[in-house]
Amino acid sequence: MNEIVLVSNTTKHFQQKTAVNNISFSMKKGEIAAILGPNGAGKTTVISMILGLLKPSKGEIKLFNRVPDDQQVREKIGVMLQEVSVMPGLKVSEILELFRSYYPNPLSMKELVSLTALTKEDLKTRAEKLSGGQKRRLSFALALAGNPELLIFDEPTVGMDTSSRHRFWQTIHGLADQGKTIIFSTHYLQEADDAAQRILFFADGRLVADDSPMQIRSRIQKQSVSFTLHSDESLERLSRHPEVERVIHKHKRTIIQTSNTDKVLALIFQENIHARDIRIEQGTLDEAFRQLADGNREAM
Ligand SMILES: Nc1ncnc2c1ncn2[C@@H]1O[C@H](COP(=O)(O)OP(=O)(O)OP(=O)(O)O)[C@@H](O)[C@H]1O
Ligand SMILES: [Mg+2]
Repeated sequence: MNEIVLVSNTTKHFQQKTAVNNISFSMKKGEIAAILGPNGAGKTTVISMILGLLKPSKGEIKLFNRVPDDQQVREKIGVMLQEVSVMPGLKVSEILELFRSYYPNPLSMKELVSLTALTKEDLKTRAEKLSGGQKRRLSFALALAGNPELLIFDEPTVGMDTSSRHRFWQTIHGLADQGKTIIFSTHYLQEADDAAQRILFFADGRLVADDSPMQIRSRIQKQSVSFTLHSDESLERLSRHPEVERVIHKHKRTIIQTSNTDKVLALIFQENIHARDIRIEQGTLDEAFRQLADGNREAM
């Protein structure tokens, strides 16, 4: 059995609203995929359907070739939802023990603690007294408690500081190396780019792109390379190359718009331009979203 997740022609309506509109994709064992898209794009709805928490209005979802709410499927999946809810009154260690007891082959407490960076202090703390970041760590540990084969996360890094994020993604990559399949949603192109081999880009409930991060980025046209120049050096040699789409001068900086920043960087060196303080702008997320969403609307 190759396909861990199979979503076919799936639609979800809420009254008049079509939250998810006829999407199809599948995932193989060991893949890491990011569901990316702006607010209201349908990310949580898709994840809820994959988890069997919502029923599709049309279409079908299979996990491990079974329906999502099958007990055998439940034992193989680990989940972190957008809203973290914890059990008040219990200590973190007690909650973890309880969750471990639900599964046939749970991870040991030691493994859980080391994977999620829960501290001795965290373990002794009562759930209601945890900070936002500590709650996230607990929620991550709960997702891993059953030693799942498929991990599903809805915006896992919201509220994490930089070092927690870094650690979180390191752990995720380690888990993928062990053959776990991982799907997560995010608003952040950068995060999807760093962590996933594949991006499923949602806009208005449609799956408008399903590609590697590199392919997705190359669709975002408004990228630029900017720099300052030593003197009033001519950029004529540079402008001759077709990759240089437009040259703009703004606040003493020269900005080159391009869809291939790597190539423009290479050209700067090749043409021996004395550029200083070179910066690469991959286009803002807003732009990226807008371009993909506009493309979606044109295709409709
Ligand atoms: N239970 C519901 N009843 C009615 N409309 C809903 C319901 N859940 C979601 N929606 C609508 O469906 C659309 C998709 O919502 P969803 O929560 O899936 O988006 P999202 O991509 O997860 O957004 P966010 O980035 O804000 O988390 C939105 O327009 C939302 O208002
Ligand atoms: Mg959401």
